[in-house]
Amino acid sequence: MKPRKIYLEEHEMPTAYYNILPDLPHPLAPPLHPGTKQPLGPQDLAAIFPMELIKQEMSPERFIEIPEEVQEAYRTFRPTPLIRALDLERKLDTPAEIYYKYEGVSPAGSHKTNTAIPQAFYNKKAGIKRLATETGAGQWGSALSLACRMFDMECKVYMVRVSYDQKPYRRSMIHTWGAEVVASPSRDTKAGRDALAANPHAPGSLGLAISEAVEDAAGREDTNYSLGSVLNHVLLHQTIIGIEAMKQMEKFDRFPDMVIGCVGGGSNFGGIAIPFVRERIKGKKVRAIAVEPASCPTLTKGEFRYDFGDTAMMTPLLPMFTLGHTFVPPSIHAGGLRYHGMSPILSRLLLSNLIEARAYMQNEVFEAAVTFARTEGIIPAPESSHAIKAAIDEALLAKEEGQRKVILFNLSGHGHFDMSAYDAYFAGKLANHKLHVEDVKKALAQIGEFPVPAV
Ligand SMILES: Cc1ncc(COP(=O)(O)O)c(C=O)c1O
Repeated sequence: MKPRKIYLEEHEMPTAYYNILPDLPHPLAPPLHPGTKQPLGPQDLAAIFPMELIKQEMSPERFIEIPEEVQEAYRTFRPTPLIRALDLERKLDTPAEIYYKYEGVSPAGSHKTNTAIPQAFYNKKAGIKRLATETGAGQWGSALSLACRMFDMECKVYMVRVSYDQKPYRRSMIHTWGAEVVASPSRDTKAGRDALAANPHAPGSLGLAISEAVEDAAGREDTNYSLGSVLNHVLLHQTIIGIEAMKQMEKFDRFPDMVIGCVGGGSNFGGIAIPFVRERIKGKKVRAIAVEPASCPTLTKGEFRYDFGDTAMMTPLLPMFTLGHTFVPPSIHAGGLRYHGMSPILSRLLLSNLIEARAYMQNEVFEAAVTFARTEGIIPAPESSHAIKAAIDEALLAKEEGQRKVILFNLSGHGHFDMSAYDAYFAGKLANHKLHVEDVKKALAQIGEFPVPAV
């Protein structure tokens, strides 16, 4: 009998996160103050983040212990299963072995809960009563609403307008966990009102929703801001995925030839890939492949620059691949991948050739999603389906080359609230948005004056 999935026991769940900062071959350039454009100190971030998270953002420690309260909250759904995609392998008739780590078993439906829980915990411990955040696809807003419920905190979610309209049941979930949710741009902040004045029908973007949430948090003593991706501490929390996956692959008696994940701001890919990149730095052979939408191709078509994380230029300037903070990606259904920037850690790893990147069109991604649903049963989130498409392509290449590759990918979430996107795909109504090079050029020209980080 071929084992199909590996569960870890609760006591086998990792008790520390892995921090790659001390192992990077080149240190990260520091974030810069949005006003002075000088390197930031911890105090500059203290207006919107608790000190424990600020310390994690810059920590030189290789391993950071997971507090017992956070471990207990994780145990509601972790460890998550590692599954061998036997039916997908058969369908593709490939000699490759395909494994996926399934993060959709968290109550909110994705990996986002892995960082929502510690972020709520550290804020609560610092005396904060309320968190403000943005959400693209609705997955992050759901996860933070759940985490705030776990630690008895209030939560306000600025949800990108397109997703707010496309995914009404994500809003219902957020309400059910007791948080407040508004469409972004909203009338509740200056950034939102300015955007609506410029375009009353603005579809919104993650960059703008971040501006609204940061403005909300900066204006209230009892409120901090919480970000669902991009930052070092977020990727740190997500490494629990890769650490578990490595243990599970060992139980299958395998080490992957490649690890694949989709990238919006980089947290689920970073989460599964970074523990394996550590092995690669130590000399093991393993590829790490980041997959993004062709309509928002930050890693494959962006430039490595200092740029703002948001549209209204309120966040620190981060050294990252960017399409420019004013770039508004087309309204694709993988709302969580519509972000102009990228995690500085992943940006650095790409520059150091420790990871690679590729981009796919929306329709080919949905074709892969449907193939997966019809073989493995799980209906994947449109974001995660980018990783599936890459895994299928790699398995087909292995077949062509007659190689028995071991492929591991992160299935970051389920798509139960994305069924309107599947309907649009079946009706042939999904557009294959092309990137408008002129839009990116224009957006990048606006950051032409900003300092350029050393490579
Ligand atoms: C299911 C899912 N996967 C992936 C992402 C992309 O985010 P990240 O790159 O931070 O993992 C999102 C973002 O909302 C998501 O909801």
